[in-house]
Amino acid sequence: MKHFLNTQDWTRAELDAVLAQAAAFKGSKAGDQLKGKSIALVFFNPSLRTRTSFELGAFQLGGHAVVLQPGKDAWPIEFNVGSVMDGEAEEHIAEVARVLSRYVDLVAVRAFPKFQDWSVDREDRVLKSFAKYSTVPVINLETITHPCQELAHALALQEHFKTTDLRGRKFVLTWTYHPKPLNTAVANSALTIATRMGMDVTLLCPTPEYALDERYLGWARDNVAESGGSFRMSHDIAEAYTGADVVYAKSWGAIPYFGRWDQEKPIRDAHKHFIVDEAKMALTNSGVFSHCLPLRRNVKATDGVMDAPYCIAIEEAENRLHVQKAVMAALANQ
Ligand code: CP
Repeated sequence: MKHFLNTQDWTRAELDAVLAQAAAFKGSKAGDQLKGKSIALVFFNPSLRTRTSFELGAFQLGGHAVVLQPGKDAWPIEFNVGSVMDGEAEEHIAEVARVLSRYVDLVAVRAFPKFQDWSVDREDRVLKSFAKYSTVPVINLETITHPCQELAHALALQEHFKTTDLRGRKFVLTWTYHPKPLNTAVANSALTIATRMGMDVTLLCPTPEYALDERYLGWARDNVAESGGSFRMSHDIAEAYTGADVVYAKSWGAIPYFGRWDQEKPIRDAHKHFIVDEAKMALTNSGVFSHCLPLRRNVKATDGVMDAPYCIAIEEAENRLHVQKAVMAALANQ
């Protein structure tokens, strides 16, 4: 049984098939690939796009989605094995995942890191626990990676460049300022898919402390060795933007400062100039800009960038619907 926890677990042929199916779904809304089937969407964190697009995607394919928010409208869940459950949690993941598996055909999970100890967060325990105990396929709705966002972004680029072959395109993943330290998930994912697609990828961030986790840097290096792309890190804004075909922005907290964010804040605050603006975009090769959304305007990117014709963030957001329908159809009918 195949899960969708990371794109890195799927072959390039499997990803290409999902993207092709997503493009087909985009041309024709309805289908019956989930007829009589259902999905449980388990959200430990808020969402606009993910929740809406999964619920509608299941509906459009003839299926049904159930949304659960543990600790809000469902019981709080314990994930520790062997725990004496005398705290807040009312039931254990061992029962939750197996019970849901008796009801639904797919289980999908959003569980952000706790942002206190990266050595704990990087184990992705909530998602892995669902995958361990579930007897139906599990989909990652964003934990420490965001694979559905990756596919939506890849499809948006394929549409923009009017080809499924993205090799040789110059892709810049730029860190941007945000008042809070955010999850590295989308950055990990952008790096993963861009290198997988054979693009020439630059990770632009303020200092070496903002490098992503070694696991994802390793995936990037492995991917370009196979795909023929390239990968490097830069701290030079003008040099990185010059000639770029794609600028993808995301803010994230510096991993060495997990749990002591008060010490990271002055560094983050000193790099507000990483905002994506029209002057930086003018250095690109008539490049496109995108972001996973939500985005704070005039903090991460200016109004001028967000409203420019080269901003494809709305296309990418729409593509969440199509790629997720393709993922659900593939997993529910394997
Ligand atoms: N990009 C994304 O996952 O959006 P939501 O957090 O609104 O689901």
